[in-house]
Amino acid sequence: MAIFFQEEQKTFYLEGKDVTYAFFINEVGYAEHLYYGKKIGRDDLTCIRKSGGGSGTSIIPGRMEMWLQPGFYASYHDFPSELSFFGTGDYREPAVGYQDKTGSRVVELLYDGHEILAEKPLPAGMPGMRGGETLVLHLKDSITAFACDLYYTIYEETGVVVRRAVYRNLSTDAVRLNRAYSFTFTLPDMDYDVLSLPGAWARERAIERIPMHHGVVSVDSKRTSSSATMNPFLALARKNAGEETGDVYGFSLIYSSSYVLKAEGVNGGTTLVTGGIQDFDFSWTLEPGEGFDTPEVVLAYSDRGLGGMSRSFHDAYRDHLINPRYVKKPRPVVINNWEGTYFNFDAEKLMSIAKAVEGTGIDTFVLDDGWFGKRDDDTSGLGDWVVNTKKLKGGLTDVIACVNSLGMKFGLWFEPEMVNEDSDLFRAHPDYAIGLPNRARCRSRYQYMLDLTRKEVRDTIVDSVNRVLHENNIEYVKWDYNRNVTESFSFGRDPQRQAEFAHRYALGLYDLCERIVNANPNVFFEGCSSGGARFDPAMLYYFPQIWTSDNTDAEARTLIQYGTSMVYPLSTMSCHVSAVPNHQTGRTTSMETRADIAHLGATGYELDTTKFTTEEKVKIREQVAQYHQMEDLVLYGDLYRTENPFESNYFGFMLVAKDQKKAMLTLYQRVTKCNGDLKLFKAAGLLPDTDYFVPELNRTFKGSTLMNVGLRAAFARGDFATVTYHFVAQNA
Ligand code: DGJ
Repeated sequence: MAIFFQEEQKTFYLEGKDVTYAFFINEVGYAEHLYYGKKIGRDDLTCIRKSGGGSGTSIIPGRMEMWLQPGFYASYHDFPSELSFFGTGDYREPAVGYQDKTGSRVVELLYDGHEILAEKPLPAGMPGMRGGETLVLHLKDSITAFACDLYYTIYEETGVVVRRAVYRNLSTDAVRLNRAYSFTFTLPDMDYDVLSLPGAWARERAIERIPMHHGVVSVDSKRTSSSATMNPFLALARKNAGEETGDVYGFSLIYSSSYVLKAEGVNGGTTLVTGGIQDFDFSWTLEPGEGFDTPEVVLAYSDRGLGGMSRSFHDAYRDHLINPRYVKKPRPVVINNWEGTYFNFDAEKLMSIAKAVEGTGIDTFVLDDGWFGKRDDDTSGLGDWVVNTKKLKGGLTDVIACVNSLGMKFGLWFEPEMVNEDSDLFRAHPDYAIGLPNRARCRSRYQYMLDLTRKEVRDTIVDSVNRVLHENNIEYVKWDYNRNVTESFSFGRDPQRQAEFAHRYALGLYDLCERIVNANPNVFFEGCSSGGARFDPAMLYYFPQIWTSDNTDAEARTLIQYGTSMVYPLSTMSCHVSAVPNHQTGRTTSMETRADIAHLGATGYELDTTKFTTEEKVKIREQVAQYHQMEDLVLYGDLYRTENPFESNYFGFMLVAKDQKKAMLTLYQRVTKCNGDLKLFKAAGLLPDTDYFVPELNRTFKGSTLMNVGLRAAFARGDFATVTYHFVAQNA
């Protein structure tokens, strides 16, 4: 049991192994936050509450006398909130924006009972965390019959808390939601930094850390996709919190469309966190009896710094988010033809790329963009999921037969959500593309987005994609998404409901994923979006790994993979060794460096393998074999970020088996220095008293020595060099 209700004080304690989350129902029936942090006893915490309000405080009707009593305050603005609402004296960011037919925007959502479910339901039509005992707190406005259910789940091992809200219209008239956030969470002071993951194409998920201040710090997307510009995540880190020390609270939203997460510094010293679906360009009509489910947000508390927070997210996402049918299995090691050929290939070329890696251990050939419709470049063909037999004379059949005869699986690229103007699909159904009847559409990469809010559009996509998957022996799909929405408008939808578009797109996308993923249980799915522009937990629910970035340069990848690891496990990051000079940066790095960095994820190769020398082929065979030896650490181990490339000349990832018997440290030096510093590189996460054999040094050291003294890294001469060390516990 993880959820306890203390009747007398009406306090809920959500307990993980090391963590407690507590709130209570106060005198006015308001869900008031008490605590989230390191595990505590089930004590009465009401003595920690703030007392007294200031001049100008808006007192809850009927509570004036209470407010005058010493030690009590009776304003919604002063209560630490589990769900903030507008119109009755709370001036902080409300979680809900409501309007009824009278024009009233006021609701007062107070306790109306609760229940504890043995298993967590998913939000309707949306992905979410799988399983776990769940508290449902019923809140209701007694005047309007508008209601809200708050869902809470806590996972024992990690102590992460999953939250969401469901808004319900229990009245007999339609109401409008102008905002429908998933949660509110309050901390009793503001002494935090806000950490976020901003970026751009080929520079995804950098790390930005700024001081928390009065007013609102907001991260968001208005792109109908979670975006490369800002990942749906923020963290509040104590000023002194570092990689492995200090308190950190992380907030990760399971959502793929426009979103917002906000941290607000208020009342001269509290921090309120809220967010969910982006409320700009959003409104939703709730008919009588209808409910509106919001996406889940995952809260991770750590007293072990950012590293501890990341490990909690990693474990929680591996154990409860990613499809269990893939999560505990080794990942395909792929050869992908994109950077090797771009659109310029025929069947022979593809077969020769596959043949060139025979015997290297690479086990899957992935045919990227350009195999379908009239697709010789990016101006045409999207939407026509029919093989281009001009390019592939024997259709897919011959290429797949060749790949399979080499003992490899075959994978195929799709971009199911898109259409080119020059395509049979667009010619037949121009209204399937998102756009306004009286306005030219913005093109992006010569393509338009399909209107996934419409069922008939989704049906067409599902039929054509599933047909290809069912007619061919395809065991891997790369699902790409290469533009963002413009002119968002859905033909045929009620004008009053057009601002439902961005969320309806998310629901349509999830439906598409469900129907394609579930109809193809033997296919392994990889997500992609112009690189990593839709790298979010909702996509991970369907696709166990995502192409991390179009930037395959090892130097750039140290930053991208470091930032991505803040929230996402290495097993979810698709990382490829590509050719040099690198196609994105023009930089040349060694084959070893490229492999050492790409092997810190779900690895693969992406280059023209027909140009390999015999030595390179041997090298790749060795690299793949080495990867397989350490794959369990990459896929299921604990990550310690030992060197930060955003702040130094070095990058360091230490991967440690859960039983701490095996570990690996990959170090990278950006620029070589003559007569350089005397830096020692510390290991992390080992058992202090255990002896570890380090094969690269042919020496054995105590874990405490490796973690406190460190190792001198023998980087090769030249820039962009890597060194890896392995640690094997002796007699442990
Ligand atoms: C963008 C992806 O990120 C690339 O890997 C590749 O699949 C191209 N799209 C193909 O158009």
